[in-house]
Amino acid sequence: MTDTLATSYRTSAAGSLREADAGTDARLVGWVHRRRDLGGLVFLDLRDRAGIVQVSFDPSWTPAEALAEARRLSPEDVVQVEGRVEPRVRPNPELPSGAVEVRGVSLTVIGRAEPLPIQVAYAADEELPSEDLRLRHRPLDLRRPELQRNFIARHRAAQATRNYMDAQGFLEIETPLLTKRTPEGARDFLVPSRVHAGEFYALPQSPQIYKQVLMVSGFDRYYQIARCLRDEDLRADRQLEFTQIDAEMSFVDEEDVFRVGEGLMAAIFREVAGVELRTPFPRMTYAEALERYGSDKPDLRYGLEIVDLTDVLKAADFRVFQGVEGTPQRIRGIRVPGGAKLSRKELDELQDVAKRGGAMGALVLKRTDEGFSGPFAKALAGEVLNGFLRGSGMEAGDLFVAVVGLFRSAPAADGDPVAAGMEAALDELRRHLARRTGLLDETKHAWAWITEFPLFAWDAEGDRLVSEHHPFTMPHPDDVPLVLDAVKDGQPGSAAAKSLYRRPVRSRAYDAVYNGNEVASGSVRIHDPALQSAVFRALGIGEEAAQAKFGFLLEAFRYGAPPHAGFAFGFDRLVMLLTGAPSLRDVIAFPKTTAARGLFEGAPSPMADEELKDVHVKAIRPGS
Ligand code: AMO
Repeated sequence: MTDTLATSYRTSAAGSLREADAGTDARLVGWVHRRRDLGGLVFLDLRDRAGIVQVSFDPSWTPAEALAEARRLSPEDVVQVEGRVEPRVRPNPELPSGAVEVRGVSLTVIGRAEPLPIQVAYAADEELPSEDLRLRHRPLDLRRPELQRNFIARHRAAQATRNYMDAQGFLEIETPLLTKRTPEGARDFLVPSRVHAGEFYALPQSPQIYKQVLMVSGFDRYYQIARCLRDEDLRADRQLEFTQIDAEMSFVDEEDVFRVGEGLMAAIFREVAGVELRTPFPRMTYAEALERYGSDKPDLRYGLEIVDLTDVLKAADFRVFQGVEGTPQRIRGIRVPGGAKLSRKELDELQDVAKRGGAMGALVLKRTDEGFSGPFAKALAGEVLNGFLRGSGMEAGDLFVAVVGLFRSAPAADGDPVAAGMEAALDELRRHLARRTGLLDETKHAWAWITEFPLFAWDAEGDRLVSEHHPFTMPHPDDVPLVLDAVKDGQPGSAAAKSLYRRPVRSRAYDAVYNGNEVASGSVRIHDPALQSAVFRALGIGEEAAQAKFGFLLEAFRYGAPPHAGFAFGFDRLVMLLTGAPSLRDVIAFPKTTAARGLFEGAPSPMADEELKDVHVKAIRPGS
């Protein structure tokens, strides 16, 4: 067979041999995955990037010297093998090459492996060593077939991206890594300038400003598979260094951007997973998502919608419910079809789940053929019962889980907005219950665009208004007057501006959500300098500060700026979800730990004062 991996060392990749190759002669190279000695014979699992193939050494076809050499092999030795491809006596259906084996006639050891600090070949039921140990020995860990598959998928996704974006008229343009502070809201990594003492470059949190400038420059459609750097606290779905599929388009509105985003995802899923996504994706406003699913990244693979039964239940003879009368508190819950079958222990578990979401607990109610049971079962009578049945749709066999408290999506008319509402508790309960009751269908692909995110968020610690997305996001046209009115006295960060947080000001920002995960963000941008400066003033950024921070963008806008909008998909996150990997670290070749260290290369590392002097920096060391 011909193989693109064929070289002077090999006729094809070892793992790519198939039934059709039977009867041919092969020369292969690879790593010793496993060796089994069965008396006279030696079986070798030879591994390379394409997979694994069995090589058999047998006195009836293998010269004694090669057989003796095979007996001396250790795991992860690099070897070259020659022999004939033959049908396997006992085919292994688990292995893509399992219909054939190579009958080894010669064996050359190319590189010996010392005793291994961690294995590469694990039995199916074997636990992997700790992640820190695997990251420390990353070159070995990366040999694991599972990780190799992830990186092949990652490459395919990048290829599909380039093909699709090119076909849609996007130009790939690189933007600087040594730049000025960018506005994504995390901390910047700083790089001291050697030439300009006391001055620093910032590493980009995203190419946001540059891509907007590229629109002003008339490139019309830009994209980049861009590296972003953010000094933030790490979690399983966050890294200090990550990659975005970053794009920007001119003369567009939301729908134009959504079409490209959907087409791109459809291309990637087709190419990497062989899955046909259904497009267009549903669209849902932020307010609706919060109200119906308790989250701005709802998992839409199942229903379990939230219902608000405040008006019905506050009339019930039940203290917790009566307590909401005259307050902005609400009573909201979820009907779980078939949930009455949950055991006592599983119901108790729901209390912890609700607490994780910030609630005191959850009130559960079962309906069986015998009637209702649960803390407020007795209070369901007469009109209350009728209203509850109408509102919840409860049938025999169902469970209802209710949470009482303040909700972000139902602030008091004139009171303070709710910073952390009970939505989080219902969101946790939804996700948990869908798994527990088997309502979650793991084979589904549920996408949505969540639109009209709030323009501002409140930073209680800093006592100031901040951008929910970034300061270049266009306010919703209906809410522009609110912004202009609040800043009309020209004072940056005035009381009127701060009070904008109480008026939900909507924006033209959106997220793409996949199976309950945020995978992309974007927005229609402000291209009018006057509106941009109004938004800056609302954020407490005066003219001078705006010039100092983003002067280069504002200047570009002065000479004819097109309307523009864009998005960034988290590329690592997307590949993690596509491959089913449990962590971003399984789809990034050399990731950082949650303690922000590169364990393999040993980064960050201390610098001597002498070296720091070159870049005009003095270190404040712990304990000094
Ligand atoms: P945002 O900051 O929402 O938007 O980022 C876009 C997407 O990037 C991914 N992401 C991350 N992935 C891994 N580790 C991280 N630390 C991390 N942070 C973000 C997420 C997220 O949805 N410039 C805007 C986009 C725009 O407006 O066009 C931006 O960067 O999947």
